[in-house]
Amino acid sequence: MTRRKLIAGNWKMNGSLAALAELDAVADAARAAPRVDVAVCTPFTLIAAAAARVPDLAIGAQDVHANDCGANTGCISAPMLREVGATHVIVGHSERRDEQRESDAAVRAKAEAALAAGLTAIVCVGESEAQRDAGDALATVAAQLDGSLPAAHADHLVVAYEPIWAIGTGKTASAGDIGEMHGAIRARLVARYGAAGEGVRILYGGSVKASNAREIFGVGDVDGALVGGASLTASAFVPIIEAASAG
Ligand code: PGA
Repeated sequence: MTRRKLIAGNWKMNGSLAALAELDAVADAARAAPRVDVAVCTPFTLIAAAAARVPDLAIGAQDVHANDCGANTGCISAPMLREVGATHVIVGHSERRDEQRESDAAVRAKAEAALAAGLTAIVCVGESEAQRDAGDALATVAAQLDGSLPAAHADHLVVAYEPIWAIGTGKTASAGDIGEMHGAIRARLVARYGAAGEGVRILYGGSVKASNAREIFGVGDVDGALVGGASLTASAFVPIIEAASAG
């Protein structure tokens, strides 16, 4: 089964209206890579301006509430994201699972709300360094998948495997470890969704950059990347798009 690669940037709590100028060259690179999907997930405050500036580049958010509207002070819903031009949303990033104490059940509810609204939902999973050292990486991620994935398959579902110890650290998992984990995630997706699980894209995340992207994209069942630090500037992000396009 051939799956289109997805390169998704995660700006986290970075960026500004002025920084949206970086997206011009990212949009050019995306146009030059028609076999690759490219999305940039900005802070909420920049989504509308980003979507207006680069209309043919997919823009996403980094979180969403499970409800469409209501008494949820400070939160943003999936229909609100759609209205301002977002097409993608990251849910269950390890920084939110940690800082905002998001549970697997909360992540699943967010993913289901996003998918129901027609957004692509990028569901994040990944083990800590202690869990990997203890030999529990596969079991940890399997449990996260069981708890966080939507009940029903949806075409716009994406999974991102991000080992926590590789995020923002400059460390990346070895090709062997990435392949083992992505293969295990694929098996879990097929067990859960049947043949449709073969079509779900699995991204790798954690210190992806120009110098390691090609090797990572060559690993089986790696269908793209979720890129933090290296997505903040076009000069760092564009070579990753090019690597995906070449692969
Ligand atoms: P990083 O972040 O590329 O800066 O390691 C990845 C992520 O947290 O999505």
